[in-house]
Amino acid sequence: MSAAYVKARFVLLALLLSTLSCKKERVNNLNLDQLHPEKLAVPGNFPAATDDPDNPLTKEGIELGRLLFYDTRLSGNNQLSCASCHHQNIAFSDATVLSNIGVSGKILPRHTPALINLAWATSGLFWDGGSTNLESQAFGPLTSADEMGQNLSELEFELKQVPDYQKRFKLVFGSEINSASVVKALAQFQRTLISGDSKYDQYIRKEAGANLTDQEKEGLSLVDSKCRNCHAGELFTDDRFHNNGIDADFSNDSFEGLYQGRYRISYNLEDLGKFKTPTLRNVLLTAPYMHDGRFSKLEDVLEHYNSGVKVSGTTDPTLLPTVGKRGILLTAKDKNAILAFLASLTDNTFIQNKKLSNPYHD
Ligand code: HEC
Ligand code: HEC
Repeated sequence: MSAAYVKARFVLLALLLSTLSCKKERVNNLNLDQLHPEKLAVPGNFPAATDDPDNPLTKEGIELGRLLFYDTRLSGNNQLSCASCHHQNIAFSDATVLSNIGVSGKILPRHTPALINLAWATSGLFWDGGSTNLESQAFGPLTSADEMGQNLSELEFELKQVPDYQKRFKLVFGSEINSASVVKALAQFQRTLISGDSKYDQYIRKEAGANLTDQEKEGLSLVDSKCRNCHAGELFTDDRFHNNGIDADFSNDSFEGLYQGRYRISYNLEDLGKFKTPTLRNVLLTAPYMHDGRFSKLEDVLEHYNSGVKVSGTTDPTLLPTVGKRGILLTAKDKNAILAFLASLTDNTFIQNKKLSNPYHD
């Protein structure tokens, strides 16, 4: 073997190793020998978050969840990741009325919600609360033919081909890769999708220099008096199910119970047309709106509350006429103030947080 040949091979090998280690460094900035317990960074104005005792948070578990969230190996056609429908720059929503980018190409029956402050979502996930918790939720999109269309044993097989994953799963869950751990890791990452650093939050926490304009303050007090019974507390959701009057007829519902809302899960007639109150945080980024994405603009949403509320047996009583007119009366000035306030709920720290971003691309 000539010296030049050996040298060339060495250079190639060194090049290969350096690209490998470089690639590894981008994703692998953690010590893979030891687990580090992690606490959620709960904003000062938030209530305490709930943990899952069967899935304790660790730095390594969260990082593994992040790798998986952005990994297209999770889908049957290896083209979709969770982030294909949940984009960080728009608060993990997808700017689409009803997505059809799933493996089957069929239109999904519901609008993709933003993923915000899920660690506080205790009444179930999805618009109708049909999924119990984050630890089981991801099985839904993973296996649904219209979403990621993945076969779970194939998923396990594919992930096992990646030595880095093997090490990480072993460390975090003390076992071989299996789909239950995939979902647990995804849950750990998703618990860290915390948004609590908007202009509003800084104002409420009285941080130095933080303030709202007079118009934003007027909007805040309008929201407090007219919307907070449902968009409640610092999370801007009561995590409950209401019929906010966008529909009144639930009889003709052939599409998976789409318009029947919570009834689809509870079979209680009182739940017809009730959906989980979505948060108002980052709402400027997350158009279109409602469980079917029917409103493209916030102005349309406000006009719905002002003049569009439809009355049925389950319409929330707060939206029913007391003295004549149904809905929540809003003047043009009120609407502008509310819009200004809602803009103060946009959290740039959240949408730019590198710890939540695609680990394969930075
Ligand atoms: C093809 C688009 C698509 C993909 C891919 C996708 N999702 Fe979703 N996601 C949706 C839609 C649509 C809903 C609403 C479903 C419903 O309410 O019935 C949703 C709902 C959710 C929710 C519930 C949020 C809430 O507030 O109730 C979570 C959590 C979630 N997705 C996480 C994930 C994870 C994790 C993955 C990857 C394993 C993923 N999604 C992949 C479209 C998608
Ligand atoms: C009776 C409870 C209730 C009241 C009062 C209420 N909302 Fe809602 N809001 C909901 C529910 C439930 C939804 C989701 C309905 C659906 O998707 O079918 C919703 C949806 C929204 C959305 C769309 C969010 C998204 O991500 O799709 C916005 C914006 C909104 N409401 C703003 C307001 C404002 C502003 C007020 C006060 C003027 C208000 N709401 C009053 C319950 C309420």
